[in-house]
Amino acid sequence: MKGVLLAGGTGTRLNPMTKLVNKHLLPVGKYPMIHYAIRKFQQAGIQEVLLVMGKHSAGMYIDYLGGGKDHGVRMTYRVQEEAGGIAQALALAEGFVPDNEKFMVLLGDNLYEDSLAPAVEQFARQPEGAMVMLKEVPDPRRYGVPILHNENILFIEEKPSVPKSNYSVTGIYMYDAGVFDIIRTIRPSQRGELEITDVNNVYAAAGKLTYGVLQGWWTDAGTFSSLQEAGAKLLLSDEGDRR
Ligand code: DAU
Repeated sequence: MKGVLLAGGTGTRLNPMTKLVNKHLLPVGKYPMIHYAIRKFQQAGIQEVLLVMGKHSAGMYIDYLGGGKDHGVRMTYRVQEEAGGIAQALALAEGFVPDNEKFMVLLGDNLYEDSLAPAVEQFARQPEGAMVMLKEVPDPRRYGVPILHNENILFIEEKPSVPKSNYSVTGIYMYDAGVFDIIRTIRPSQRGELEITDVNNVYAAAGKLTYGVLQGWWTDAGTFSSLQEAGAKLLLSDEGDRR
């Protein structure tokens, strides 16, 4: 399975640091944020990785990751010209993923403890469709929130004021190759972005969106406090020490 790592976007919640450097290059624990997602891929046996980045700091990603040799992966890069949404960034992976092959997508600002290997194995057994990883959280209103029915997700509400479950959809997604046709059918949301939640809801409506649940800690490091929290956890754990 190939991997797609999304690291575009503006990171406005981390201003003024993100005026200087892209969010995914900020230090967390001992490493730049991007390091951890690359390692999650590598540890799950995913060695072909496409990094989608913005123009801001693009050269620094290449300085850090290069061809991927030091990180046990092979890197390919693509530039998202403007922050038009997660689904727009994902559309740039068409051509990188061979026809009819399933693949994994990670949001570069998600930091967590679990290995991705069990999720990859579970999705490999799923004949078609998509799968997302969930995490039980105290504040689901900040995230995409799923409505569950047995092994499927019926619908995801993006940042609802009254969440219908205590789960967040994390930035760990797996898709079949049909996702690129689905992205072509969706329209920008009120905030002007092509939303990954709208893409996932097409799979949900077809009864083809399954899920797994993360057991360890999980953080979306998009704010100063979550960035600090993740840094402290990573410094204490094996993840912050080992390359
Ligand atoms: O972290 C999980 C959450 O991520 C999910 O629960 C939500 O359903 C999902 O919409 C997303 O919400 P955020 O509001 O946190 O997304 P954000 O705009 O902060 O972008 C998250 C990552 O996606 C970021 O690390 C980089 C990438 N991205 C984002 C945009 C808007 C891109 O690569 N390109 C983009 O244009």
